[in-house]
Amino acid sequence: MAKALVIYYSQSGNTKKMAESVVEGIKQEGLEVVLKEAKDTEVSELLKYEAIIIGSPTYYGTMAAEIKKLFDDSVSFHGKLDGKIGAAFASSANIGGGNETTILDILNAMLIHGMIIQGDPQGDHYGPVAIGAPDTRSTRECVRLGTRVAKLVKKLGG
Ligand SMILES: Cc1cc2nc3c(=O)[nH]c(=O)nc-3n(C[C@H](O)[C@H](O)[C@H](O)COP(=O)(O)O)c2cc1C
Repeated sequence: MAKALVIYYSQSGNTKKMAESVVEGIKQEGLEVVLKEAKDTEVSELLKYEAIIIGSPTYYGTMAAEIKKLFDDSVSFHGKLDGKIGAAFASSANIGGGNETTILDILNAMLIHGMIIQGDPQGDHYGPVAIGAPDTRSTRECVRLGTRVAKLVKKLGG
């Protein structure tokens, strides 16, 4: 069974590229991972994974409706995600365009589910951000998030 699930919504491909880099980081640590678009994700699938990483474009400073819907649908499993590892990443058009508020909104919902969130003292603190298409820096941060989440899964006995 795969240990980590990376879910994303992406209209023009920027968040998708970030998601692929997160997957690369997880694989570098030898952990099994599944990559899915939000529209193809049944909320019941969330129960199968030890780590759930979610990426969204920034829409008016928060997550896109497709990602919010996934969280709203997840109420049927409220309490069942308790203790799973969560993480988030986001893409925006502008510096100061709301990447970090988007990430924090996703992490907020994860915390309400009882999920475990690790910050980053050196890299992008809340989660990787990209302005438009991910550049070398953003791609490195996405890979870094993947490796850090995978290490945490192993540390917590996954
Ligand atoms: C409805 C909508 C709202 C958006 N709101 C913001 C915003 O508040 N701040 C910002 O910087 N970019 C905003 N954008 C731009 C996207 O966040 C940005 O283009 C992102 O890289 C798209 O990611 P994607 O290629 O994965 O779809 C918005 C785009 C759309 C379509």
